[in-house]
Amino acid sequence: MTDPAKAWTQRYREPPAGPVISPAIMTPTIATLLTHRSVRAYTPDALPEGALEAAIAAAQSAATSSNLQSWSVVAITDKARKARLAALAGNQHHVEQAPLFLVWIADLSRLDRMAHTHHLGTDALDYTETFLVSTIDATLAAQNATAAFESLGLGTVYIGGLRNHPEQVAAELKLPPRSIALFGLCVGKPDPAHPAAIKPRLPQSAVLHHERYDTTHEAETLSAYDDRASAFQQEQNLPPRAWSRAMSERIATVAALHGRDKLRTILHRMGLARL
Ligand SMILES: Cc1cc2nc3c(=O)[nH]c(=O)nc-3n(C[C@H](O)[C@H](O)[C@H](O)COP(=O)(O)O)c2cc1C
Repeated sequence: MTDPAKAWTQRYREPPAGPVISPAIMTPTIATLLTHRSVRAYTPDALPEGALEAAIAAAQSAATSSNLQSWSVVAITDKARKARLAALAGNQHHVEQAPLFLVWIADLSRLDRMAHTHHLGTDALDYTETFLVSTIDATLAAQNATAAFESLGLGTVYIGGLRNHPEQVAAELKLPPRSIALFGLCVGKPDPAHPAAIKPRLPQSAVLHHERYDTTHEAETLSAYDDRASAFQQEQNLPPRAWSRAMSERIATVAALHGRDKLRTILHRMGLARL
């Protein structure tokens, strides 16, 4: 059984302020979620039989806006294809190394095909709202799959780098118009030679508001978190850095978007979010 105080302290790098989680609340599901860490080094072992299908069933069990089910996923094990996708994602070695690479698709193309079969229009597919619906649904599904893989002791890391070159990724995967790869997910057995640590998150007081949004204590909270995040960096043999400064630098200029500032134009070309 997971010790709630220990799980909490691992996640936040500070003990709970009060009696936060009783053992009855620390279910195996919550315990698995609290120990998430991105894994970027894998053994060459294939996934246990049925793991992919179980994770996709978990993904499909997520709620889906209006039951539209407007997402798809492409499972890739072919080494050469993984290598090409790794290059498109900014030469991320773990994409090639992971035995399984899943690409999560915001997919309005199936609805498009269905509407044509039923001799109906597709006006709503052009709107940003419908694109947003498919990205939300795909993301909820992917996270359910991630939790399922992690419950099996497998490691994962999301790969947003795929959005650096959406049209090349679409060509590689033969995606139809009105669909786009949102992100990838590396899946595999974590390499014990390169263990991944649990990265501390913002204190709950920074993200959880009661009744109304409140920034009264935000500055102190962020400053205390900067210290903890910097200590974590040093533990990982990385240069110390204040999280709030590093994240601010990431949004300071368009250059940090790695070409994704063109995404709106690309989405239009791919038949998405045109209105
Ligand atoms: C949508 C999304 C895209 C991401 N893209 C990448 C990526 O391209 N490469 C990578 O190494 N990590 C990627 N990550 C992982 C984040 O860097 C990681 O989740 C974050 O630093 C927190 O660390 P943790 O997952 O270990 O708690 C991505 C995460 C998300 C949610």
